[in-house]
Amino acid sequence: MRRPIIAGNWKMNNTASEAVELVKQLKPLVKDANCDVVVCVPAIDIPVVKKAIYGSKIRLGAQNVHFAEKGAYTGEISANMLKEYGVQYVIIGHSERRQYFGETDETVNKRTLAALAAGLTPIVCIGESLEEREGGLTEKVLDRQIGLDFQGVEDFSKIVIAYEPIWAIGTGRTATDEQANETIGYIRKRMKRVYAGKKVGRMRIQYGGSMNAKNCKGLMAQPEIDGGLIGGASLKAADFATIVNFDK
Ligand code: PGA
Repeated sequence: MRRPIIAGNWKMNNTASEAVELVKQLKPLVKDANCDVVVCVPAIDIPVVKKAIYGSKIRLGAQNVHFAEKGAYTGEISANMLKEYGVQYVIIGHSERRQYFGETDETVNKRTLAALAAGLTPIVCIGESLEEREGGLTEKVLDRQIGLDFQGVEDFSKIVIAYEPIWAIGTGRTATDEQANETIGYIRKRMKRVYAGKKVGRMRIQYGGSMNAKNCKGLMAQPEIDGGLIGGASLKAADFATIVNFDK
């Protein structure tokens, strides 16, 4: 069985003191979680959040990682730097990074391999834009991302995929339960074909895109959906906790 994983993507929100306050509120609310609980925080918040989550079920995640081990890459952070601070998960290839920061399938692939090599669990984001969905290109886009983003990965049980239709991110417009389930089912089927023999069956696939305290139960009840990557709703302790406790 695949253990559900609920991850918050704080994006560029929360100063260090705000981060500590949010985690303080969150801790008691998620103490009985039956899933993996992760907060992916801005890099500069990592040290304080590491301390703040101590003794709780919350695990630490980052929002990006560079692919080189070290060197002349001004402004970047390596997998080993994250690792030394107790980071266990890292979001890679979020659509905002693809859209605003020149992330490509090639760099997503390199970052994914670097994260794995350092023992971090990548949460790799894939998904189609509104134009692509309306143009009937969803599967074609996913096929491209599946083919390029994961080249060289040998063990998919160590990877999490976040299926995030771009039109649902931060828009309040969620994919329906059935749409999300069907597309995630497609991703799993396709990956099993492309990466046969590499433990794809044990890989968890999250849904992301305006998942919130209200719609989480319906989405999480779908058989293909193994969790959520939560943006806006992860910034309020009560809302995020409701999602984490989706099974209660
Ligand atoms: P959202 O963001 O929940 O605010 O739509 C999800 C994401 O971008 O990961």
